[in-house]
Amino acid sequence: MAGNSWLLLLCLAAVSTAGVLQARAQPDSNGFISIDCGLPGTASYVDDNTKLSYAPDAAFVGDAGSNHNISAEYITPKLSKRYLNVRSFPDGGRSCYTLRSLVSGLKYLLRASFVYGNYDGLRRPPVFDLHVGVNFWTTVNITDADKLEIPEAIVLVPGDCVQVCLVNTGSGTPFISGLDLRPLKSTLYPQANATQGLVLLGRLNFGPTDITDIVRYPDDPHDRFWYPWVDATSWSSISTTERVQNIDNDLFEAPSKVMQTAVTPRNASSNIEFFWDNDPQPNDPSPGYIGILHFSEVELLPGSATRQFYININGKQWYPKPFTPEYLYSDAIYNNNPHSGFARYNISLNATGNSTLPPIINAVEVFSVIPTTNVGTDSQDVSAITAIKEKYGGKKNWMGDPCVPKNLAWDGLACSYAISNPPTIISVNLSFSGLNGDLSSSFANLNAVQYIDLSHNNLTGSIPDSLSQLTSLAVLDLTGNKLSGSIPSGLLKRIQDGSLTLRYGDNPNLCSNGNSCQMAKRKSMLAIYIAIPVVLVVVIVSVAVLLLCFCRRNKQGDTSANETPMSHAPTSVSSYPQSSLQLENRCFTYKDLEMITNNFQRVLGRGGFGDVYDGFLEDGTQVAVKLRSDSSNQGVKEFLAEAQTLTRIHHKNLVSMIGYCKDGDYMALVYEYMSEGTLQEHISGNGRNTGFLNWRQRLKIALESAQGLEYLHKGCYPPLIHRDVKASNILLNAKLEAKIADFGLTKAYLNNDSHVSTNTLVGTLGYMDPEYHATLQLSTKSDVYSFGVVLLELVTGRPAIVSDPETMSIVQWARQRLARGNIEGVVDPPMRGDHDVNSVWKVADVALKCTAQSAAQRPTMAEVVAQLHECLELEDARAAGGGDANGGYYTGGSSSDPYHSYNAYADVSQTSTGFEVEHNFGRVPTMPTGPAAR
Ligand SMILES: *[C@@H]1O[C@H](CO)[C@@H](O)[C@H](O)[C@H]1NC(C)=O
Ligand SMILES: *[C@@H]1O[C@H](CO)[C@@H](O)[C@H](O)[C@H]1NC(C)=O
Ligand SMILES: *[C@@H]1O[C@H](CO)[C@@H](O)[C@H](O)[C@H]1NC(C)=O
Ligand SMILES: *[C@@H]1O[C@H](CO)[C@@H](O)[C@H](O)[C@H]1NC(C)=O
Ligand SMILES: *[C@@H]1O[C@H](CO)[C@@H](O)[C@H](O)[C@H]1NC(C)=O
Ligand SMILES: *[C@@H]1O[C@H](CO)[C@@H](O)[C@H](O)[C@H]1NC(C)=O
Repeated sequence: MAGNSWLLLLCLAAVSTAGVLQARAQPDSNGFISIDCGLPGTASYVDDNTKLSYAPDAAFVGDAGSNHNISAEYITPKLSKRYLNVRSFPDGGRSCYTLRSLVSGLKYLLRASFVYGNYDGLRRPPVFDLHVGVNFWTTVNITDADKLEIPEAIVLVPGDCVQVCLVNTGSGTPFISGLDLRPLKSTLYPQANATQGLVLLGRLNFGPTDITDIVRYPDDPHDRFWYPWVDATSWSSISTTERVQNIDNDLFEAPSKVMQTAVTPRNASSNIEFFWDNDPQPNDPSPGYIGILHFSEVELLPGSATRQFYININGKQWYPKPFTPEYLYSDAIYNNNPHSGFARYNISLNATGNSTLPPIINAVEVFSVIPTTNVGTDSQDVSAITAIKEKYGGKKNWMGDPCVPKNLAWDGLACSYAISNPPTIISVNLSFSGLNGDLSSSFANLNAVQYIDLSHNNLTGSIPDSLSQLTSLAVLDLTGNKLSGSIPSGLLKRIQDGSLTLRYGDNPNLCSNGNSCQMAKRKSMLAIYIAIPVVLVVVIVSVAVLLLCFCRRNKQGDTSANETPMSHAPTSVSSYPQSSLQLENRCFTYKDLEMITNNFQRVLGRGGFGDVYDGFLEDGTQVAVKLRSDSSNQGVKEFLAEAQTLTRIHHKNLVSMIGYCKDGDYMALVYEYMSEGTLQEHISGNGRNTGFLNWRQRLKIALESAQGLEYLHKGCYPPLIHRDVKASNILLNAKLEAKIADFGLTKAYLNNDSHVSTNTLVGTLGYMDPEYHATLQLSTKSDVYSFGVVLLELVTGRPAIVSDPETMSIVQWARQRLARGNIEGVVDPPMRGDHDVNSVWKVADVALKCTAQSAAQRPTMAEVVAQLHECLELEDARAAGGGDANGGYYTGGSSSDPYHSYNAYADVSQTSTGFEVEHNFGRVPTMPTGPAAR
């Protein structure tokens, strides 16, 4: 099940490439696909050595990326033609090659190759990831401009195509020199199956006659690369000119040319020993390994001689019996269940007491195992969105699977990730995307879609009625196009029964008769309220406050940390551009709000003030409408205070007000919509937003909320104290950007006095500054205290008041544990192990300083912001240093080929004890006596 659809991807993708090219994007008569990436034009060429035909890559990659030649200084006569050019992908996070016309369910060998050759003149080889379909394959770490990296994987392909994707991980521009696909019989390499793939660590041919010769096609019909390995100091080479046969049902089909040569210890009483080292991967510090040792006797032994040896891994028998290779037949010892958990894997072959000859070995392959369990997006959604992409061009990152992995999901799409089903597309936002032509009927094939926004494009023609079949569709926004005809009846019905909100204003040619026309008129009335002058603003916003208070403007993208705090009052009040107030905040009537919220249908949350509703402005902008309820315990005063505050604060980390309503007794504030809800919901795992936050996301949220508070404290005059900082007042938008909300209790205080006295205690239990509690003396340091509590919640994943087992504040709880140096004991359990410990310690330390008893000992928010910046850098440094997939390859023995290296060392003796080695090996059944054709 899971395995069935993991690669089932976009077989339709990139059909945009011309039919002419398409013909060459087919496997050759062997079923091979051999691509020379970055080769311009459409002509293939035949390689002199292998006689294989190499095709240019345009037909496989569409128009992504650009061609480059490697720099002349790296061109040597030995370098084959395919490495002279590369294709690089400076744009987009993920760029994919699609290999089509495959046989579903068959196993394939995939091999990518990379020669950097300073093609970009930057002398900075990049590091990036490779994915096979929606599953991680390996990290490509190019360490030298002239080094050839050739990652290889063996995977089972469930569909009739497979994608190989290069993923930009922020360490340079991905590029590629070549890509090969070779079919393998499905019985070969039984360890590769629907749920796991094999990534090659090394494939070595022992004792070749020509020590520079890499055996491949046509000697190996599967075109595997067998690298030579000789070590003249420890091993002597032995060989035969007779053909070595594969037995029936051979699981590995090692080629005769490889099996004809072998090594044996130079000193007949020694063992054959070699090893490979654990190669940690970004998502798996200790991958499992599959080893395959290939044996064949190459000497015709006299009757009195025996060659019999044990095969050991890390000092334990791998194969439980003495082993004797058969003359001129290939045989293999291998494991099915991966070995893992060792820093080094030592293989040793020692002769038994009865043996008259030392051990031999002909070849070895070592693979690490990768899971291929990620499931791609629902295939019908993939077809539909691919057709939409073909029609309109799509957006920049529309490559690979639309929803998987999450962090590479296509821009403008939102997906639902249910555990048991493939992900589905639930929202498509293509507003302002310059779409031309008619409205694609493929939208009607997105079965789970709830929200489609195609506003402000150039769409023409009529609206397809098939869209009314989308039962989950709740909002269809077609505002600002050139659509014509009338609203189809199916859609009208959906609108009338309240299951669909259709926006279609500003389509001059739409609906000239009948019901639909009337509807349109009624709708277009809505637009009038844009024009209502914002006179009412003075009704609720006291003029005095406006004149006395102002806040520094914070342009999008600024971080206030980099700005100098404003410590002086404005010299002239008139220098403040008053008009900006009126331009930015709209006044809504209660009727408007009814429209916006569809009669207050969906409640987003409940607060002391009243309920918060989901709504859409006429331009499709999603908003949150906070409506004061009569029973509210937050009074008119707080409402006015909040409106007042919001009109003058502008910072990317403070929730912004779009408008307000003061219509009779109705009062409401209209805010920007924060789709991911409150931080508290994420920490507690309760509520509609329960996605787990990793440490980096938490750090970013901490830093952003700190910046919002810093702005209130430093960027406003007089400074503002929030007074109710808590996890439920930190909201997250779709990009998980944090913004501080709820300014109902916010108070201004004048700088010349370091405290404000308040006569009522406000705030939330668990977050309240103890000093303020005792003295009613309020300062910005009270917010710092509350923020410290939020930091502890982020580190521990626990609420402000814990019961463990007794009820106490999280400050006390964490202080007790941290005093014992027990950081892992306080860290949120699901986060353990996946974070930079120093960065967690540092945040915990900042949190403890923020929650010092005495306000004077607490840092300012500016200091907190600076500290959190450093924490984020620590964490990013850890993440960047994580992977080293292909590094660690090393040139083994005396091999002189500069273009390969291998991660195994000859003849190293090391005794190791105490390891458990599973006895789940296997062995190719040896052929019974029979008609052995020589
Ligand atoms: C790469 O080199 C070839 C042959 O020297 C030349 O024809 C081609 O224009 C070069 N391409 C680029 C992108 O520089
Ligand atoms: C693939 O092989 C692994 C290891 O032998 C096994 O655990 C897994 O169940 C297999 N998957 C399938 C789909 O057979
Ligand atoms: C060979 O190795 C096995 C396992 O390490 C050990 O039990 C055995 O004694 C060794 N035999 C010889 C002859 O060294
Ligand atoms: C060694 O030879 C003896 C006598 O032929 C036999 O009994 C014993 O099983 C043999 N041992 C091995 C490991 O083959
Ligand atoms: C629509 O097309 C016209 C001309 O065809 C162009 O001027 C205009 O910018 C386009 N509008 C949008 C929103 O793409
Ligand atoms: C790439 O390899 C180099 C050399 O082995 C290593 O220092 C570096 O950390 C690696 N980079 C990444 C991102 O893995």
